Amino acid sequence: MDKINVAGAVHAYEDEGEGEVLLFVHGFPLDSRMWRQQIASFSKSHRVLVPDLMGFGQTPLEPPQEKLLMADYAKGLSALLDALSIREPVTLIGLSMGGYVALAFWKHFTDRLKGLGLVHTRAVADTPEGAKGRHETAAKVLKEGMGVVEGTMLPKVLAPGASPNVAKEVKEMMLATSREGAAAALRGMAERPDFRPELPKIRVPTFVLCGDHDPIAPEAEMEEMAKAIQGSRFAVIHGAGHLSPVEKPAEFNAALRGWLEA
Ligand code: MLT
Repeated sequence: MDKINVAGAVHAYEDEGEGEVLLFVHGFPLDSRMWRQQIASFSKSHRVLVPDLMGFGQTPLEPPQEKLLMADYAKGLSALLDALSIREPVTLIGLSMGGYVALAFWKHFTDRLKGLGLVHTRAVADTPEGAKGRHETAAKVLKEGMGVVEGTMLPKVLAPGASPNVAKEVKEMMLATSREGAAAALRGMAERPDFRPELPKIRVPTFVLCGDHDPIAPEAEMEEMAKAIQGSRFAVIHGAGHLSPVEKPAEFNAALRGWLEA
């Protein structure tokens, strides 16, 4: 894993391969390791850049902050591209919270995008009850640790029949996330706006992908998202839950490559 100083703070990232840049952004509460099998495959044809978002994995939450908005993570990614002297537009693929960050990146840095991959993610805002629940979870995580999130999320993110190795890998990532990083993200997610009115304005080539066993970003809702984005391509990974890049890497990689090469 590489590390670079971005605006006075350390940013950790994987950087493999050569060519057009694919920027993969992980979900909550995970880190760059969730893209392991995409790094292995796509680094043969692309430059694959996979950061740990601020407060996740090996990127510390510097300076300490109570809340990070999706736009803050997007600004961090833009600063990382600057620090790496990447000026050409990149294809950003974000999963779930990474997708919220991808939408914020589109809003703030459209010119930096060649393509957009929205994977197991949502355009709607939290309901008031959902947002309240996030704040309560943030407070609980700070007090009791990441077991609080792992206990409720792990059963939801994997499709029935997921291999024990996959479950172990995901659990380890969840438990390794810092409490402060998770709390800041939960509070930021609670404040994200309803992005649906923006979707018809997206002009960047877009790929929308879901799993047919994902209760967090349901297939029907993701299909609506794809319909709202002009010219987007929609794919369903059968038998996948919320984490198809980890659960069904071969199928996910084939679907992504199909779009990239279309
Ligand atoms: C994620 O996978 O990033 C989370 O499920 C996103 C969320 O909690 O909304």
